[in-house]
Amino acid sequence: MSNAATIAAAATAATTAATIASTQTAMDASTGRSKPPSGSRTVRFRIKRSDGHNKNVRWEEFDVPVTSGSEGSGSANVISCLQHIAANPVTRDGRRTTPIAYDAGCLEEVCGSCTMVINGKVRQACSCLIDDYAPNNGDVITLEPMTKFPTIRDLWVDRARLFATLKRTSAWVPIDGTYALGAGPKEKPDEQQIRYKLSECMSCGCCLEACPQYTLEEDAKDWDKAFVGAAVISQARYFNMQPTGATLKKERLDALSAPGGVSDCGNAQNCVQVCPKEIPLTESIAAMGRQVTVHRIKQFFVGR
Ligand code: SF4
Ligand code: SF4
Ligand code: FES
Repeated sequence: MSNAATIAAAATAATTAATIASTQTAMDASTGRSKPPSGSRTVRFRIKRSDGHNKNVRWEEFDVPVTSGSEGSGSANVISCLQHIAANPVTRDGRRTTPIAYDAGCLEEVCGSCTMVINGKVRQACSCLIDDYAPNNGDVITLEPMTKFPTIRDLWVDRARLFATLKRTSAWVPIDGTYALGAGPKEKPDEQQIRYKLSECMSCGCCLEACPQYTLEEDAKDWDKAFVGAAVISQARYFNMQPTGATLKKERLDALSAPGGVSDCGNAQNCVQVCPKEIPLTESIAAMGRQVTVHRIKQFFVGR
């Protein structure tokens, strides 16, 4: 998604009108904030804001009226509440402020771009239902940006390192699409099943945020030696399993044998616990650890 579209603009609030429209009509004259109509409840959002990485970091609180999904208009989620705030960015103590900046694209837990830390746990904001997180009037939801990527503004982080690391490990199938390729190579159904699960990675960054070995690297010069992280190791496994993708196996194993490769994993297994797609990351790390070991032994004896 483009950066321009990323920033929560007031115009986007219209898209979630079904969830919150009825709540925007009544205004409290003393605070300038909308009042919840009867049948709805107020959820307080405590949001960590900044003007850039470690720049002017502050907390702001907003009260958002929501109705529960069972009361007819669909469930509010964290993104729809951020859009509500964007439509009328007034803090709970009545101070006018700017809309919260965040990233989002698919709004259905597919693109991974809305990943943030919600009540202390990293996850996607679009699939975070308010009915689950704040079922009672006055419940508080805390939103923070991920810490392992530089903050661009508010809840919006720059995941460029993750994409650069996918490039570093040749995470693609090399094809020349300018001519008819014919039938693809035959594959075993059981391997297809494994690869299908691995293919669900959306580069959201949850596994990296939770990993004690994956640390913030603001300078792109350091990315080539920094730990690649579980998502990239798993993608290397994915592409090595595909017959055409396997033509770049050596390049991938060279990258994963180097500093920052698979041996930097400390086996804490946090990654597998937070992956929203339930990708078997520790299996991938073990599989790639074996491939790297065989690769090194071959290099030692055969020199390639
Ligand atoms: S198992 Fe490895 S990649 Fe996963 S959280 Fe632990 S150190 Fe990070
Ligand atoms: S492996 Fe899971 S947690 Fe990690 S980036 Fe992919 S989808 Fe997100
Ligand atoms: S907006 Fe795509 S995962 Fe949330």
